Amino acid sequence: METMKRREASHGSAGCGADTEKVPGPELKQLELGSVGSFVRNHRKKIFLIFLCLCTLLAVQPSSRWFGAELREDRTSKLQAELKGKTAEQILQWAAETVPGLVQFSSFGPSGMVILDLLDRLGLLEETRIVTIDTLHLFPESYEHLQNVTRRYPKMKLQTFYPKDFMEGEGHRFDEMHGMTLWKDDFQKTSGKLSLKFSEMPAEYSYLTKVEPTLRALQQLAPGGWITGRRRSQGELRSHLPVVENDAGRLKINPLAYWTWEDVWQYLHTHEVPYNVLHDRGYSSVGDVMNTRPTKPGEGERAGRFELSQETECGMHTHLARIAKKRAESASKRAELDDAPHLPCDTCVEVNKQNFEEVVLKTKQDMLLEFYSPMCGHCTHFAPTYATIAHELSISGDALPARMDLYHNQVPQSAKDAGFEIHAFPTLILVRPMQKKLKLVTYHRWRRDVKTVLDWVKEELTKPLT
Ligand SMILES: *[C@@H]1O[C@H](CO)[C@@H](O)[C@H](O)[C@H]1NC(C)=O
Repeated sequence: METMKRREASHGSAGCGADTEKVPGPELKQLELGSVGSFVRNHRKKIFLIFLCLCTLLAVQPSSRWFGAELREDRTSKLQAELKGKTAEQILQWAAETVPGLVQFSSFGPSGMVILDLLDRLGLLEETRIVTIDTLHLFPESYEHLQNVTRRYPKMKLQTFYPKDFMEGEGHRFDEMHGMTLWKDDFQKTSGKLSLKFSEMPAEYSYLTKVEPTLRALQQLAPGGWITGRRRSQGELRSHLPVVENDAGRLKINPLAYWTWEDVWQYLHTHEVPYNVLHDRGYSSVGDVMNTRPTKPGEGERAGRFELSQETECGMHTHLARIAKKRAESASKRAELDDAPHLPCDTCVEVNKQNFEEVVLKTKQDMLLEFYSPMCGHCTHFAPTYATIAHELSISGDALPARMDLYHNQVPQSAKDAGFEIHAFPTLILVRPMQKKLKLVTYHRWRRDVKTVLDWVKEELTKPLT
């Protein structure tokens, strides 16, 4: 590694000198060869200044340039051979000494935490820049975890990159601007299975929230290489992962390439390294709120990521059309209607076509209204949560809990006239009576647990009625 450093150094200064000789200047062209000597003597200061400028320019140029050139000449395979069998510590130590502007990209998952802790132990945390990409759609737990990490590693030099033109905590603004379902476009159907479009082109949501911020970080920081927490044991695609890779002239260093999932967890427990509590709740890999779900035993480590199964609504028209078709196909139409499961909700006011006007449109009280279909799996799944929310609301008296079954009822025209828009099941709308009309606020958050919904209700109720 010493040789490498020295070679880089000499390469750098040679470039500087060579370029100075080639400086083209209008004055230089007019000179005759014989007077070059006197020209140099007369313009010593100028020439020296130009030389100085060029050298400075080359020095502040991303060091990755010459590191990259070095890399292109099959340095990577030599490095791979050199580093094979080295421990994670040795690889990190080597990287810190060799790679200019070393960066670790981290989402503070289990592997990233191992690397962070190793860097800290090796005393390399201050000289390694840690970069994280905040998609604005992370779990509250992940943000809390990051605070824990910051507290534990005060030396950490963290740089956070957000989607372009957005700042911390602007997830709602992002959704307002790009639509709530942008992330779903990232998936496409292939032979009945959902898969990422990544192979062809970064899809819009991933591009805006991950790819572009990463590219921007690379461009701004211009590291000669970066550390990743990727491991061979993470699955098929990574099963041949080498310790170092050449990524367009930059080194990608994978010090944990040969670690197993168990190795990682053993390290975290042995050294009492903080980890995201979501891992205790069955999430093996934590991404964005709407595209991550807990994994089942035996599933791949990353199986919970990038799945549409986390979809939380039934599109109303597709759902009703499907039910209608089923009903038409069924010989005993009546039976099917009555087959709908009963979803208990003791404290819910049951709204139907007949009482809609009286109960909802003429309400004197703030009301939380759920539109649902007992035939929609997402509604059945959400039912116990909504029953608890309703129970809590009836105790606190913040709002009257109600629900309307849109499988047995249709949305009344008077509801449409009053501004109710229902496109999917379940839809939660907070109905607030004003002087002459109703203020309707639809629930748009990804999380639909008791606390998040109740917090939202409270927050909305503090807003003035306009
Ligand atoms: C943060 O640290 C506290 C104290 O160790 C812990 O109880 C909590 O679960 C941690 N939070 C997350 C999200 O991991």
